[in-house]
Amino acid sequence: METTTLTRPGLAELVTGIRALVERRLPARETAYAVADLFRAAPLTAGILTDAERLGSPDGYVSHVLHAEDDFSLAAVVWRPGQETVIHDHVAWCSFAVISGIEYETLYRVDGGRLVEIGRSANRPGDASGFAPPGDIHKVRNTSDEIGVSLHAYGANLDVLGSSVRRAYDLPVG
Ligand SMILES: [Fe+2]
Repeated sequence: METTTLTRPGLAELVTGIRALVERRLPARETAYAVADLFRAAPLTAGILTDAERLGSPDGYVSHVLHAEDDFSLAAVVWRPGQETVIHDHVAWCSFAVISGIEYETLYRVDGGRLVEIGRSANRPGDASGFAPPGDIHKVRNTSDEIGVSLHAYGANLDVLGSSVRRAYDLPVG
């Protein structure tokens, strides 16, 4: 099953490139790194979204699935200033690239019924990165004062699963 609107500017090229990488059947983490490299080399702009989509929502960050097929999906996430995810991990590898705003990521591990912070990174426009489970518990927040837009690729079919989140964590932190 496959859904897409490949008429979005630049989307067809991204989908073709990601599909070629996925078809190499590399280990998940290597696929995530390779897709991040592709993002870094691609001319990514917020024009892949409509004007209305780029406004985001006052109710929380919004994920627009741009393309989904059996082995991967591509989504664009719009974050107003200060909007953030819950602490969560993922069903599959993930790669992301920041187009605007700052995606500030805090990483955690579970230790004895608590979450312990193990790292932070501020991802700015032009930055791209990838990761794969396990060890992928994180929270992401747009810490800039402008609307954030980022692209996210996942090694799963979001049309089937609805989300890349494996589970959310509400354990105490610290
Ligand atoms: Fe995530």
